[in-house]
Amino acid sequence: MKLLVLISLVYLLGSTEALKVLVVFPYPVKSLSILGTGAVRHLLNAGHEVTYITVFPLKNMPTKTFRQIDISTNLELLKKDESMTMGFVLEHKLEKNDALQIQNFALEGAKATFQHESVKKLLQDPNERFDAVITDLIESEVFAGLAVLYDCPMIWLYSMGAHWQVLRMIDRGTNPAYDPDYLSPAMTPLSFLERVDELWARVKWQFLKTFITQPEERKIYEQTIGPLVAKRGRTLPDYEEVIFNASLIFGNEHDAVRDRPSTPQNFKYIGGFHVEEPVKPLPKDFQDLIDNSKHGVIYFSMGSFLKSNSLPKPLIAELLKMFGELKQTVIWKFESDLPDVPKNVHIVQWAPQPSILAHPNVRMFISHGGLLSSIEAIHFGMPTIGVPVFFDQFTNVNKAVENGYALRVPLSHNLPKDLKVAIDTMLKDDTFPKKAKELSSIYHDRLSKPGVELAHWVEHVVRTRGAPHLRSPAWRVPLYQRLYLDLIALVLAIVSLFFYIVSSLFKKTPKKNDQKKRN
Ligand SMILES: *[C@@H]1O[C@H](CO)[C@@H](O)[C@H](O)[C@H]1NC(C)=O
Repeated sequence: MKLLVLISLVYLLGSTEALKVLVVFPYPVKSLSILGTGAVRHLLNAGHEVTYITVFPLKNMPTKTFRQIDISTNLELLKKDESMTMGFVLEHKLEKNDALQIQNFALEGAKATFQHESVKKLLQDPNERFDAVITDLIESEVFAGLAVLYDCPMIWLYSMGAHWQVLRMIDRGTNPAYDPDYLSPAMTPLSFLERVDELWARVKWQFLKTFITQPEERKIYEQTIGPLVAKRGRTLPDYEEVIFNASLIFGNEHDAVRDRPSTPQNFKYIGGFHVEEPVKPLPKDFQDLIDNSKHGVIYFSMGSFLKSNSLPKPLIAELLKMFGELKQTVIWKFESDLPDVPKNVHIVQWAPQPSILAHPNVRMFISHGGLLSSIEAIHFGMPTIGVPVFFDQFTNVNKAVENGYALRVPLSHNLPKDLKVAIDTMLKDDTFPKKAKELSSIYHDRLSKPGVELAHWVEHVVRTRGAPHLRSPAWRVPLYQRLYLDLIALVLAIVSLFFYIVSSLFKKTPKKNDQKKRN
C-alpha cells in the first residue's frame, strides 16, 4: 500500500512537471520545418507534451505525448511564386529580396493557417490549454495572439540571428550604421552610401509594416482571436501591446559568428540545436561510396528549398562535364535523374547531409549558404564554396568568406568555370580546412548543448510566469524618449522663448530713443 502511494506520488510529481507546449511552424519552407522538428524533439526528450502545427507532418512519432496538426495545404502558397527558383534568379540577377514580398509571404502564411479547418477546430475547443506557445517568426507577429488565447507566455523561434526586426520586439532596433539588414549583402564597416542605404531600408521596412501588413495582421487578430478570447470570458488586449509582449526569443545562431549586435537577456542563441547527436550512421551505399573515394568527396547541395532543375539544361550539362574532369567523387543532390552522368558523379535525390559532412573523407561542401547548411558546415568544420541565391544567403556566405573557411561564387551562366577555379583553389590551400576546424571548436565550446538549453529556457519561462525579470528596460521606453526628442523640444522651446523676449526688448528700445530724439 505504502509503495503504491509512493509510486503514484512520484508519478503525480513527474506528470505535473510535464508542460503542454504548442509549437507552430506555419510556413511551407522545409528548412524552417527542420527547426520546428528540432524544437519538438528536444521538448519531447525533456518529457513534455507537444502539439505541433506543421506543413511537413512527421512520421513514427510517439502517440501519447505528441499530436500534430497537418497544414500541408500551405504548400500552395509557394506554388504561386515562380520568383523563388534558381532559374528565375539566374535570369534576373537578383541581389536582394523585396521587403514587401517577404512581409506579404509571412502574412499570407498566417492567413492560410488561421483559416485552416484543423487549426480552427483546435482553437475553438474551449477545454484546450497550453503552458507555452512557440512559433516560427518570419516577419509576422500575429501568432502572438495564440499566447493571448491560452493566457500563457509567448516564445518565438527565429530562424536567423539577432536582427533588428526581431530585437525591436523585445528591446530596441539596432543601429543601422553597424548592423546591416539580413537581406543586405553589405559588410561592416559600412561606407557612407551603404550607411544611407541601410537607414533607408529600415525606414522603408517600417513604413510597409506599419501601413500595409500590420493593419491586415491586426484584422486577423481581432477577428480570429477576439471572439475566442471573449468566449473564455476575457477581454482582448490591444494588438500593439500583444506583439511587443514576447517572453523570449530563440535565435538560430551561435558564438562562432562574429559581429553580432548586443542582445537583451531574453534573447537566447541556440544555433545548432537542429543537428541530431550523435550523428546517424550513413546508409550502406553512401558509406561504401565515401569510404572508397581515393581522392576524397565533394558534396554539392543547394538545400531543400531551391529547385536545381529550374536551371537551364546546357548549364547543368556543363556542370556535369566540369565535375567529370575532377579526380574527386562528387555527390550532387538534385531533384530528378540526369542523362550522361560521368562515372565519378553521383546524383542523389535525397542525402543524409549531417552524416555526409561528418565523414572525414569529405573535403568540401558546395552550398547555397542557407542558414542550416551554414551552421552544419561549422558544426562539422567543413570548408565551403557558397553560391548564394537569395534571402539571407548572401549575408551568410559573405560572413563565411570573411571567416576564412569559404569562397563565394556568383550564380551566373559562368558558374561551371567559376566553380572549377574555386574548387581548385580550395583543394590546394589548406588554410580553408584549418579555419573551418578552428571555428568548429569555438562553436562546440559551450556550457551545454543547444537542445538542452532550448528545453531549459522554455521551462524557465513557464515556471516564472513569462520571465519578466529577463526583459530589457528599453522595450518599455518609446522611441521619442530614447532619442530625447522631448528634451530637444524643451530646449528648443526655451531657446526660442529667450530669443523672442530679447528681440522684443530690442524692438522696444529704439522706439524709446526715437521718441527721446523727437522730444
Ligand atoms: C504579457 O505576457 C505576460 C507573461 O506571459 C502575461 O502575463 C500578460 O498577460 C501579457 N500581456 C498581454 C497584454 O498580453
